[in-house]
Amino acid sequence: MSDFTSFLRSGVFLLLAVQTQFSPALGQPIDQPITVGSNPLRFTLQTASSATVLAVTDDGSLVTIREGAAPGYRNQTSEWMTRQISAGRNRLTAPVMGGFPMLSAQLETRFHDGTRGIRLRYRSHEVLNASEVPELRISLEEEQGSLGVTLHFRVYPEWDLVERWARIENRSERTVVIEKAASSSLVLPRDEYDLVHLTGRWGQEFNVERTALTGGSKVLEVRGMRFHHLSPWYLVRPSGDDDEEAGRVWFGALAWSGNWKLEFEKTPEGELQIVGGINSWDTEWTLGAGQSFETPVLVTGFCEQGPGGASRRMHHFIRRHILPIKARGEIRPVLYNSWYATTFGVSEEQQVALARTAKQIGVELFVMDDGWFKGRKDDHAGLGDWTPDEEKFPRGLNPMISAINEMEMDFGLWVEPEMVNPDSDLYRAHPDWALQTPGLKPLESRNQLVLNFARDEVRDYTATWLNKLLSENSIKFVKWDFNRDLAEVDWTGASPETARELRIRYVKNLYSVYQGLRKDFPSLLLEGCAGGGGRVDLGTLSYVDQVWTSDNTNPSDRIFIQYGFSQAYPANTMVSWTTDDDWRNARPSLEYRFRVAMAGVLGIGNDLRDWGEEEIEIAKREVARYKEIRHLVQWGDLYRLVSPIESDRSALIYVAEDRSDAVVFMYNLQDPLLGTRSATRESTQVILRGLDPDADYRFSLDSEGVYSGATLMTNGLDWLPRGDYQARMVRLERVAE
Ligand code: DGJ
Repeated sequence: MSDFTSFLRSGVFLLLAVQTQFSPALGQPIDQPITVGSNPLRFTLQTASSATVLAVTDDGSLVTIREGAAPGYRNQTSEWMTRQISAGRNRLTAPVMGGFPMLSAQLETRFHDGTRGIRLRYRSHEVLNASEVPELRISLEEEQGSLGVTLHFRVYPEWDLVERWARIENRSERTVVIEKAASSSLVLPRDEYDLVHLTGRWGQEFNVERTALTGGSKVLEVRGMRFHHLSPWYLVRPSGDDDEEAGRVWFGALAWSGNWKLEFEKTPEGELQIVGGINSWDTEWTLGAGQSFETPVLVTGFCEQGPGGASRRMHHFIRRHILPIKARGEIRPVLYNSWYATTFGVSEEQQVALARTAKQIGVELFVMDDGWFKGRKDDHAGLGDWTPDEEKFPRGLNPMISAINEMEMDFGLWVEPEMVNPDSDLYRAHPDWALQTPGLKPLESRNQLVLNFARDEVRDYTATWLNKLLSENSIKFVKWDFNRDLAEVDWTGASPETARELRIRYVKNLYSVYQGLRKDFPSLLLEGCAGGGGRVDLGTLSYVDQVWTSDNTNPSDRIFIQYGFSQAYPANTMVSWTTDDDWRNARPSLEYRFRVAMAGVLGIGNDLRDWGEEEIEIAKREVARYKEIRHLVQWGDLYRLVSPIESDRSALIYVAEDRSDAVVFMYNLQDPLLGTRSATRESTQVILRGLDPDADYRFSLDSEGVYSGATLMTNGLDWLPRGDYQARMVRLERVAE
């Protein structure tokens, strides 16, 4: 008798309860995040606001009954469930190649004889109550026993999130090729939906776009490995819903730093299917007998507090569960980065001089960017040869680092480990390590080629030089850049099967180098970068502590970029610098630049050699202010109060979890004539959110006074900035009773 049959025969209602989960900020306690019922066998993943219900049909198929709001589901009868199952017979939780193609497949495989159709049947399940995060595992098996597929669900009740992934095991005696293995497939109730997602390009990352999901499908996919044009995050809401802080939203993000795909398809029944995972384009994975493959995690969520509620849930989750443990709870330091000031022309004397002024204004971490290594005069040479350039640093890096450490600042360094310039010793020794197609002239971009990180010898070479560099020098911070995408994804010398696995092996080896760094240098702080914000995803964020958001440091553009970034990712990962760049010829003031950069992890990139007393005083003041409020920015709950997309203004508030303290940022992009544009037709107040209505708050920084939370959340706070490119900042502290 199978586990399944014996389970059904037992005929008892089983309640497998798990520990109580509670978050004062967001959810209510949940006593039973995972429950299992019988007659019919069903699984409920319950969070504060949502219920995901799966059930087993009489022929052993696993189907999805519900993805959505919790109320309304509780206390349903078995008869109701039976009706839902027959209505949702085709709503397979893990659709596969084979059967009627109503849904896009989560899994597509090819057997040695070319057979492709499979049928999955429920076999058993496991509820892991004792683990820190409650987890449900449902084991399915191909009807003839050739494949095992385990669906994993890890539930975070307090943040209304579920991590979903799958493990596929080859139980046959022959090779099986995985043509597609997505992390999960979800089916949302019948409705008209819009998709909100993040698009862009270099210098213009994280644009918020909204599009109707009409009949047919909408696919977001990255075939390469840079994400400027699309971020692996989505939010779906009923068409017509507009409120930032109210309304049902289904959202998710993928933890994978390579080729990914998110599919949104209206089913023939008018429901919406969402499938997310590794992109199967130009990628296969071959499983020998007994081998298995695990997909990356797709994090999915549901709440009824609109995009604002969705963002806060993701922010909490990323800060507490995704980011590397070491710096998870730590405040990020104020850094100086020399790139915009010096580009490639770095030297010991010049960096130490910059560091002196940086120290004066309150910088805690001094970072030398590109240009420090062998042969790196410009972007034509050097990548691959990771030893200090002897002309620029005849004494090596240590004397400079010591001088900076003596000023009581940590030192950080830029690297780009996945790349090689044809003009480098590394390329001359190992031309075959670079991705290229035999017989074709290699496709260069920024005069560089991508190393084939899928090769274990490339992974090992990289781990070795990084280890040596960090062991021999007191480097506390590494900025890991990635300035071009993959092309010519060929692997000379590998078997055709292995060559098709290149993209996946590449990412796995990348993660393994990150892991090695984390293990060998536990106190290291890592910053991810890809020619700006081209590699921001939950996979990367589980290894790096923060990311460079965009090469565009124009403060007005940054207001939009940061607004988009905040939809998915938290402010303690969003690195933001003041620089001298003036992409729009608008001569924004230094103060405005600071106020925009202070809404994330503050950095300074100006050429400090040009600064006089006035700039130094402004910078000192602003850095000191940032240090007073950065715990709110980096750890508080964000409410986006005014969208720059809808007006010429923008406003944000970051509120401490206990609501005792908050900081408001107000930005004027343009200040049009009174009454001529939407912004000036609106109220001259900004309505605050997230405060304690019963508490009184005292203002400081750019305003003074004491008002109650209730007043500030109904009448609002005066709109303070006047004129184009102006910003104001107000801190609100609860007055002791
Ligand atoms: C691109 C990055 O986004 C910049 O911040 C800088 O590090 C350059 N690369 C250096 O080449």
